[in-house]
Amino acid sequence: MFRILSSRMIVPNIHLLTIEAPAVARQANPGQFVIIRAEEEGERVPLSISDWDRQMGTITLLVMNIGSTTGRLAALRERATIPTVVGPLGNATEIENYGTVLCLAGCYGIGSMFPIARALKEKGNRVITILEARSAYLLYWEERLKAVSDKVVHITRDGTRGFRGHVGRLPEIIKGFDEPIDRIYANGCTFMMMRSSQASRPLGIKTMVSLNPIMIDGTGMCGVCRVRVGGATRFACVHGPDFDGHEVDWEELLQRRKTYLPEEVVPLQTSGCDQHAHIVKETVDG
Ligand SMILES: Cc1cc2nc3c(=O)[nH]c(=O)nc-3n(C[C@H](O)[C@H](O)[C@H](O)COP(=O)(O)OP(=O)(O)OC[C@H]3O[C@@H](n4cnc5c(N)ncnc54)[C@H](O)[C@@H]3O)c2cc1C
Ligand code: FES
Repeated sequence: MFRILSSRMIVPNIHLLTIEAPAVARQANPGQFVIIRAEEEGERVPLSISDWDRQMGTITLLVMNIGSTTGRLAALRERATIPTVVGPLGNATEIENYGTVLCLAGCYGIGSMFPIARALKEKGNRVITILEARSAYLLYWEERLKAVSDKVVHITRDGTRGFRGHVGRLPEIIKGFDEPIDRIYANGCTFMMMRSSQASRPLGIKTMVSLNPIMIDGTGMCGVCRVRVGGATRFACVHGPDFDGHEVDWEELLQRRKTYLPEEVVPLQTSGCDQHAHIVKETVDG
């Protein structure tokens, strides 16, 4: 059993969990993830490791509550336990001294970008971090990212902070910097990573993305996380999750991610109802 040491919602719908998992904390590296279960009979969900403390034996996860398992995780309180934390899984992000690196992060990717930006800075890169959100109130960990970045830029869909719009504005934002960009890392939702790759391709800047296809076992056995990269079939869990964004078949990835949409929506619409009906019946029956 793995103990939850703290749990809180840091911006609407994004929950920060600190979990006691010493073996994972000891070996975690930027870009890796864990697969966890919220309860014995529950689904397995992959979550990026956003930070770790090797001495304390803890890992930090940022969970966006979008479905039945993430909803259960979000509801966990301090001192609760969960049955499964497997990891670290996936390959660590390739970190070298490239020169000036752009770290582009949105939604739960803001969390997973933090250890990457920190490692890039430690390697001697100039780090420019771009945080993307629908609105300013959804931005988090700015201070943490500022501490490991030379510059932090914001893009918000509604213009409440920084540039108005989305990552499609990347070329003009990059033009405004008085330095060439040698490499881009993008972490966030599939659309954001796809748009970032499309925007950076004409600029000829290598863009690494952290793919998040549907996963089950996370060990290369089930084939569910299959993605096409550079014309070859790759399994995101063991060959990734980082890939060259200019080589990813985004259409196929987006299509495959929709595979279980109806099955995911039904539990969301009905979860808790049977329990609620039971309580109502007990109340009515006296
Ligand atoms: C490598 C990787 C890292 C990720 N890191 C994070 C993170 O740090 N924070 C975060 O909030 N989310 C992260 N995700 C996405 C997260 O796994 C899904 O949002 C989550 O599994 C959806 O759970 P649910 O509540 O809808 O669960 P359920 O409806 O109970 O379904 C869970 C099952 O569906 C799969 N699944 C469903 N939707 C997705 C999806 N969008 N992406 C991947 N698998 C899915 C899960 O693997 C699992 O088998 C990551 C995904 C991957 C692949
Ligand atoms: S999740 Fe099964 S092969 Fe990757």
